Amino acid sequence: MIKRGQNNIHVKVKLGKGCAIDKAALIGAVPIRKIKNLHVVIGNNAVCLYGGIVYLGTKIGDNLILGHYAIIREENIIGDNFKMWSNSVIDYGCVIGDNVKVHSNCYIAQFSRIENNCFIAPGVVLANDRHPGCVFSQKCLKGVVLRKNVQVGCNVTILPGVTVGEGSIIGAGSVVVKDVPALKVICGNPARVIKRVSDIQCLLFPGQTYITRVQDHKQAVSRKCRTKKI
Ligand SMILES: CC(C)(COP(=O)(O)OP(=O)(O)OC[C@H]1O[C@@H](n2cnc3c(N)ncnc32)[C@H](O)[C@@H]1OP(=O)(O)O)[C@@H](O)C(=O)NCCC(=O)NCCS
Repeated sequence: MIKRGQNNIHVKVKLGKGCAIDKAALIGAVPIRKIKNLHVVIGNNAVCLYGGIVYLGTKIGDNLILGHYAIIREENIIGDNFKMWSNSVIDYGCVIGDNVKVHSNCYIAQFSRIENNCFIAPGVVLANDRHPGCVFSQKCLKGVVLRKNVQVGCNVTILPGVTVGEGSIIGAGSVVVKDVPALKVICGNPARVIKRVSDIQCLLFPGQTYITRVQDHKQAVSRKCRTKKI
């Protein structure tokens, strides 16, 4: 039996410096599944708001921000500057890079991989069970892969095993059923490529194309600008 500490921070939790954990947050929730590593490691300056929960067996870098009722399950490996807002869930066994933001009401299924600088808008679901209800379904779970700098619009669903290429943007409400190449804009159900990221026109400044906030993405977008149109 795992012993609990006297407060909401479990005895097997290692927190970095400068962390602010709300009294009604729970760091070190005990998973129902049996897992080998029962420690939680969270880096410096974490902020965990009322209702946020991190399970045992998860490792998170510096500057975590965990919103209300946001849940990070066991056996996840998460980088620095991870932000996740209210009611979102990261299920177990995911790998998430640095500077990733997950907005409210999202579900990230087991074994998803999310690379650096990805943004996930409200209501997104990354699925992992292609044939739910099948006797073999637990054996063939396959997570979604988001390559670095991917931007996922509101209420998008991405089907199990799909890889979204570096820097692509998925339009709001899309259902992504197959792999997406890098630096494309896709939308619809089933989602299709509609343009290149570099073809997006700014709404504020006529003639201005898409400018990303991420430096290495910037170079990739402008390289593509010089290539042929899709
Ligand atoms: C996909 C997206 C990036 C395209 O932006 P854009 O280049 O300015 O789009 P355009 O207005 O030029 O649209 C191009 C075409 O795609 C269609 N389209 C745009 N977004 C669409 C979407 N999400 N689903 C289906 N079709 C879409 C437009 O109707 C238009 O079709 P038409 O040529 O037949 O008129 C944008 O529409 C979008 O969905 N952004 C995500 C918003 C979001 O969820 N933000 C999250 C933070 S709140």
